[in-house]
Amino acid sequence: METENSQKAFRSTRTALADSGSGSGSVSTEGASDCARSRFLPSRRSATVCSVEMLCDGVYSLELSDRYMAHHAHAGQFANLYLHDTARILPRPLGIASVKGDVVRFIFAVVGEGTRQLSQARIGDSIDVLGPLGNGFSLKKEGRYLLVGGGLGVPPLVRAAQEIRQLEGALSTAVFGYRAEHFADNIVGEFSDSTLSIDESEGNVINLLNKWVEDAESTGPGVRAAMDDVEILSCGPHPMMMAVAQWAKERGLRAQLSLEARMGCGFGTCVACVTPTRDGLKKVCIDGPVFTVEQLGW
Ligand SMILES: Cc1cc2nc3c(=O)[nH]c(=O)nc-3n(C[C@H](O)[C@H](O)[C@H](O)COP(=O)(O)OP(=O)(O)OC[C@H]3O[C@@H](n4cnc5c(N)ncnc54)[C@H](O)[C@@H]3O)c2cc1C
Ligand code: FES
Repeated sequence: METENSQKAFRSTRTALADSGSGSGSVSTEGASDCARSRFLPSRRSATVCSVEMLCDGVYSLELSDRYMAHHAHAGQFANLYLHDTARILPRPLGIASVKGDVVRFIFAVVGEGTRQLSQARIGDSIDVLGPLGNGFSLKKEGRYLLVGGGLGVPPLVRAAQEIRQLEGALSTAVFGYRAEHFADNIVGEFSDSTLSIDESEGNVINLLNKWVEDAESTGPGVRAAMDDVEILSCGPHPMMMAVAQWAKERGLRAQLSLEARMGCGFGTCVACVTPTRDGLKKVCIDGPVFTVEQLGW
């Protein structure tokens, strides 16, 4: 059964890439969602390091100059970063955290040798990149977005806040949970309309979401109408996102979740990253990483 599903997934990738022209087509720039769902596969290329900054113990911001990615990256998409270390040929996938001009920012934790090497990059170094990759968040509609992030799930939500700021009539509230230091509050605060955050000594994001509802209800009638407009975008540890999905379902709210999976290629050929969905196994790298709660059947 596993082999059969893997073959199906492999065939669907080949079809998807063939549909796109597999690298020779053009990318629509007509809005986040269309572009985020493009199957265009850009080529691997060299990007220049513009800055490396330690945000808190073990967590880094890395800025790379890459015109193509900066002009095409949408919230929820990621990039493959390749190491110079020939003993480590697999890329390290990182979510795109923000974009300024031709510069793309990543935020990552040092968890192993690959991310340790990335944290030691110096300004002017070159790093091979491939991206943007994957299907990002769908941000077509106006309304209020709750950006619910946990730990190193926050980078794609920073980019979401940045894009939502450009949408007329849309507002974002960042709801971030950290292990200890609130390392991304200032960064997301540049783009979000409000920011709520909590660390493990204080509680979790569900506590924050409940408080957000209480505060909204205390502002008077019309809350139900306002709640109808709310959409949740979430990224973080699996148990947190399961809890967020449940919270959203209980209130009848839409939710899009960005999953993480061990990846090989990052663009649909190795089948290392499959996840179960209502429509069978899907590849997190090209069918996701963003899925709706309904797609996942959570
Ligand atoms: C779509 C996506 C977006 C991500 N975005 C971010 C981000 O914005 N910030 C961040 O800090 N981390 C992010 N991660 C996790 C990040 O890719 C891993 O922490 C990183 O690859 C670890 O590499 P390493 O060599 O330091 O660790 P090692 O454990 O030595 O890595 C060994 C191998 O396992 C893979 N691997 C290890 N942990 C993970 C993981 N959690 N997910 C996927 N592959 C893993 C590595 O790529 C490598 O191939 C993301 C993962 C995915 C799939
Ligand atoms: S198919 Fe290779 S990582 Fe998804």
